[in-house]
Amino acid sequence: MAQLLITGGAGFIGSHCCDVLLEAGHQLVVLDDFSNSSAIALERVADLHGLSLQRQWAEHHGSGSSISLIEGDVRERQTLDQLFTRAKALGRSIEAVIHFAGLKAVGESVQQPLRYWDVNLVGSQRLLEAMETHGCRTLVFSSSATLYGTPEQVPIAESAPIQPINPYGASKAAVETLLADVAGCSGCSDPVQSSPKGWRIARLRYFNPVGAHPSGRIGEDPNGLPNNLFPFVTQVAVGRREALQVFGDDWPTRDGTGVRDYIHVMDLAEGHRAALKTLLAGPPQLLTLNLGSGQGASVLEVIQATEAASGRSIPYRIAPRRPGDAAITVADPSLAERVLGWRTQRTLNDICRDGWAWQKANPHGFST
Ligand SMILES: NC(=O)c1ccc[n+]([C@@H]2O[C@H](COP(=O)([O-])OP(=O)(O)OC[C@H]3O[C@@H](n4cnc5c(N)ncnc54)[C@H](O)[C@@H]3O)[C@@H](O)[C@H]2O)c1
Repeated sequence: MAQLLITGGAGFIGSHCCDVLLEAGHQLVVLDDFSNSSAIALERVADLHGLSLQRQWAEHHGSGSSISLIEGDVRERQTLDQLFTRAKALGRSIEAVIHFAGLKAVGESVQQPLRYWDVNLVGSQRLLEAMETHGCRTLVFSSSATLYGTPEQVPIAESAPIQPINPYGASKAAVETLLADVAGCSGCSDPVQSSPKGWRIARLRYFNPVGAHPSGRIGEDPNGLPNNLFPFVTQVAVGRREALQVFGDDWPTRDGTGVRDYIHVMDLAEGHRAALKTLLAGPPQLLTLNLGSGQGASVLEVIQATEAASGRSIPYRIAPRRPGDAAITVADPSLAERVLGWRTQRTLNDICRDGWAWQKANPHGFST
């Protein structure tokens, strides 16, 4: 099993991915600056596997799974160099990187474009420089369906036009271009390409990651007002917020509310495990894959499913449509199934059950 660097591994998706990768027997080194997460998440992940979270990363790891935490910023070259050098000195070089570290709030990216470009693009650039220097050329990158903008056709295939409509999406599109250049695949739009420069890279375009670990011990813990529907719905159910706003009930959908492709975070984490396995076993290549369920759920369906899971009523009011929103955004995930042998296993009811179990046990997230 491999020694892996997980940037942003304390965050929502990263922590669930750490769980799945520990299960697969990997040794993990997490780099996180905790700008949007808590070390408690990783302590709980370690605990779920009967491990303790190593803060010093001093001893040589045995052959079993392990998890170490380095607090630091992915934009700092020195931190990255130390990390790769130290791993090598301890006898286990970093074989691959999963790069979650980044900022993800669309509205905030409109307010603070420079900060978003800095963390998302410069952070990725520094990481790639360090990887190149230390001879590590396998990377799984967190991209986003946001880069499709307002889609012209659904379900959305990887060949759909890239037309981001906010700085967040633009920064993800820019990193995708940077990765294609680094892999030696500039200007080529085929989602499966061989890399003449010897890189193994997966650009994974997530749809709407939601839900929580089935143990209820880790889940999404957004700072302040949630940006997305899911944490908002469960926060209303648990009594942290009064009511939900539904943006538009006059969309051309089955009940008039917006339809999205929600993917259980454990399915998403398993998609990363599959991508890593495919990259490590295959020739140098650049993969570009949608990770979604291929199913759409409307806002009202999400409210009903959460009411059923929680046994609580979720008050909501209809507000005007938001500019830039689309009626329906659903993935075509068939390429990921063909290339990775992966597809989602969990339903909307599983998502609501697990999301609710997490919220109920941790009404104030990791600060409870
Ligand atoms: N959650 C979504 O809806 C979604 C959808 C598509 C893509 N993504 C992408 O997936 C990745 C993970 O998303 P998430 O939902 O887990 O977000 P998150 O905010 O929970 O996790 C991101 C992690 O990165 C860390 N981080 C941020 N800046 C850093 C820096 N400069 N150095 C080191 N660590 C840093 C944060 O502290 C956090 O732990 C992000 O890149 C995000 O853009 C998320």
